[in-house]
Amino acid sequence: MKSENPIAIGATTCDTASPRFDDLNPPPRLLMGPGPVDVDPRVLRAMSMPLLGQFDPVFTGYMNEVMALYRALYQTQNHWTFLVDGTARAGIETILTSVISPGDRVLVPIFGRFGHLLCEIARRARAEVDTIEAEWGTVFDPSAIEDAVRRRPPKLVAVVHGDTSTTMAQPLADIGAICRRYDALLFVDATATISGIDLRVDEWQLDGVAAGLQKCLSGPPGSAPITVNERVEACVRRRRHVEQGIRPAGFVPGDGPVIQSNYMDLSMLMDYWSEHRLNHHTEATSMLYAARETARVALAEGLEARFARHRRVGQALVAGLRAMGLKLFGDADHKMPHVTGVEIPHGVNGDAVRSAMLDDFGIEIGTSFGPLHGRIWRIGTMGYTCRKQNVLFCLAALEAALRRHGAGVPAGRAVDAALDAFAAPAVDNVHNARP
Ligand SMILES: Cc1ncc(COP(=O)(O)O)c(C=O)c1O
Repeated sequence: MKSENPIAIGATTCDTASPRFDDLNPPPRLLMGPGPVDVDPRVLRAMSMPLLGQFDPVFTGYMNEVMALYRALYQTQNHWTFLVDGTARAGIETILTSVISPGDRVLVPIFGRFGHLLCEIARRARAEVDTIEAEWGTVFDPSAIEDAVRRRPPKLVAVVHGDTSTTMAQPLADIGAICRRYDALLFVDATATISGIDLRVDEWQLDGVAAGLQKCLSGPPGSAPITVNERVEACVRRRRHVEQGIRPAGFVPGDGPVIQSNYMDLSMLMDYWSEHRLNHHTEATSMLYAARETARVALAEGLEARFARHRRVGQALVAGLRAMGLKLFGDADHKMPHVTGVEIPHGVNGDAVRSAMLDDFGIEIGTSFGPLHGRIWRIGTMGYTCRKQNVLFCLAALEAALRRHGAGVPAGRAVDAALDAFAAPAVDNVHNARP
């Protein structure tokens, strides 16, 4: 029977309850929130390349290239450096679920929302989770983490490197050595920091690290680059299991408990990314192209130059915000250069200002979570978005939106201050890429 709502799709009609499906035509936006940010056009182009079969030698060649590219980004020699198909938390969950056996003790130092996410994932993996908490807007002194590890030695310490909810970056250089002293593994969530600030996986003795593409790498969300060392490998190999339908003759499983997730079984993912290419999922072809291109672009710029660009652009944004009389959130010494928390001035409706920026200027900035919801805005200057012009647009738009929403900010000072900051010599010795 014909529906009463025949509707048009292009030139044809079809029977559905929905009124009309137009061509996908998202409005132009400048994404200056805490992620996702604008995708580099080179990455979009890479994603439009034709698909290949997952065992095509050209495609497995690309997989090997991806491993090499991410080793360079992670500053590691770890062989097991590859992609998990899913957003950043898929990478986090893969490592945590594969390392944690029911009853294992895990310590999570929490300094923002994403520390709570690590607890949540660890608890679902049936860990006994201990936490220590730092006030949002601060980070831990390594001695506080060492005290907690000494008090109740865990199998694993799981910590966030840069927590976008608070904009803080936890210094990691000493934490790895602490974990080794107490024979604990160290997992790090580097979603917000990869290619934005220094991340030395081998030198800092980080055992397992997970990230995503949608922040400083300027790719789309949906692929999670991870790296794990031989300590993690030894742990998951004890839990090795292969699905019956593809199990090689004579296969001897590990003697540990089977990893609860099939999709996120690190040992099966290693088999898939090994030269044996033991079938697991169907690799997300276009996302692998995206991950390859984001890494290629970042490494072509050079890590030091990229870090310096993030610092320089972040400093100019801060100069402009301060010139407007706005207060920055949190401990300035530990703030990530590429995500800036701004206190919403008293009496100003933060959501109305954000809406004005989106509606009038097409610029997205973020709010925050939990205790910071409605208290701060978060402005991201990451990857492809991290450019002089974008900072100037954003400051001009924020100033106009604030003035229209009752905040008496001085006209024109923010853009001037940012221009001055860009004109001044860099305050560090690192070579700066052009913003
Ligand atoms: C620090 C951090 N960890 C984890 C995540 C979760 O990432 P996803 O949403 O890609 O799963 C985010 C996302 O914003 C993040 O900022």
